[in-house]
Amino acid sequence: MVIARLTRGESCFLLFLRLVCYFFSSFFRTLALIFSDVFVCVCVCVYLCVCLSRFDYQELLHNSTFCLVPRGRRLGSFRFLEALQAACIPVLLSNGWELPFSEVIDWSKAAIIGDERLLLQIPSITRSVNADRILALRQQTQFLWDSYFSSVAKIVLTTLEIIQDRIHTHISRSRLMWNSLPGGLYTLPQFSSDPAHFPFYYGVLGKAPQQEFTAIIHAVTPLQSPLQPILKLIIAVAKSKFCSQIIVLWNCDKPSPPRNKWPSTNVPLTVIEGERKTMSGRFFPHDVVRTDAVLSLDEDSVLSTNEVDFAFIVWHSFPERIVGYPARSHYWDGGKGRWGYTSKWTNEYSMVLTGAAFYHRYYNYLYTHYLPSRLLSMVDQLANCEDILMNFLISAVTKLPPIKVTQKKQYKETMMQQGSKSSRWADPDHFAQRQSCMNSFTGWFGFMPLLHSQLRLDPVLFKDQVSILRKKYRDIERL
Ligand SMILES: *[C@@H]1O[C@H](CO)[C@@H](O)[C@H](O)[C@H]1NC(C)=O
Repeated sequence: MVIARLTRGESCFLLFLRLVCYFFSSFFRTLALIFSDVFVCVCVCVYLCVCLSRFDYQELLHNSTFCLVPRGRRLGSFRFLEALQAACIPVLLSNGWELPFSEVIDWSKAAIIGDERLLLQIPSITRSVNADRILALRQQTQFLWDSYFSSVAKIVLTTLEIIQDRIHTHISRSRLMWNSLPGGLYTLPQFSSDPAHFPFYYGVLGKAPQQEFTAIIHAVTPLQSPLQPILKLIIAVAKSKFCSQIIVLWNCDKPSPPRNKWPSTNVPLTVIEGERKTMSGRFFPHDVVRTDAVLSLDEDSVLSTNEVDFAFIVWHSFPERIVGYPARSHYWDGGKGRWGYTSKWTNEYSMVLTGAAFYHRYYNYLYTHYLPSRLLSMVDQLANCEDILMNFLISAVTKLPPIKVTQKKQYKETMMQQGSKSSRWADPDHFAQRQSCMNSFTGWFGFMPLLHSQLRLDPVLFKDQVSILRKKYRDIERL
């Protein structure tokens, strides 16, 4: 597909010429043939003057609700994509013209398909479209443009994925997946061909995710003392009534400790020996995880059962997002001309740390199978930035920021103290690496997907002047 760029004047001229030809071919074909040269010359002069002096073509396109897309000289018309990009609802006048990717895209949700033989009815057809439908059509033009047409890479990728769907019909995407957010390219059918297994479709399908989660603890230090934070963490998480199992991902060079070294819990505790023991391996989509929700944990995270319960309840209402406790932010550093990363406590955030966060298990699949190996090996080599990459991915898919829930005040201090010796957070290079990760990731995505949020969710009655006994999540307030 070649998308030619014409000058404003040429575009106006071509559009006008086509409309003239239409008119004449339907009515006075012979007459038009005889006088066309003279007529076109006069019209072009008049039109170009008007066109160039009074209208900016791009602006006109963006201001318009409907854009006529008449038959082009060849198959297809770049006018169509131009209109789509500008959120101008294409009105197609080209009988028998096959629209791009029409095998999977339902164009009736984004365009009006007119009949070129009934040209004069077009004004009344467009006038009869009500405001709600206009908004829906325009939103769909933006979704389709952004998902499948906004770059040559996306057009090529969409083509390849459609071919793959044709070959493997048993694991192909449904029409719902192609035609609603986040779009077919983010919905990998190898994960499932059932929309109910993806976090984005609960709303449309009228379903809710399961009422339980799997905790996955990333362990890197050998188990030596019975006072190690990981043991306290296991006990606190296991007490959550929503916890169905705990997995310890053993990414430590030492062999994993025997069964009796782990605390006994009333939920199953499984130790999985990390195969590659790499940082990106912590998000590997292990088959043993059967719950929709995953609680990703660092071995030194400090959480109480109440905090876990409350965050899970929040996630359950926003299953397509990542819900976490400590938050971080990005900003544009104008002086250096690059993106910056900050862990300062400010009034907004755009990332939550995956050392303690809930998200849908599909994102582990997407992280492992959708992201390019270049970014994953960057994470592995630095042993850093895996959480930034996960936040980039989820925000790129959902176009939404993460959600921060309230946490006990001493959380940060506790984490820092415990991390004083061995933790990677103490490394001075750590911070600089995170800055450069941000910029590499933005380069691959082609834009900055992170979005800022100023929202923090607290339990109802949090810090309210009522008896602690009436509060559901008591220990979040206790220090
Ligand atoms: C587009 O709309 C704006 C705001 O209504 C108006 O000021 C401008 O003149 C319009 N441009 C064209 C080319 O119609």
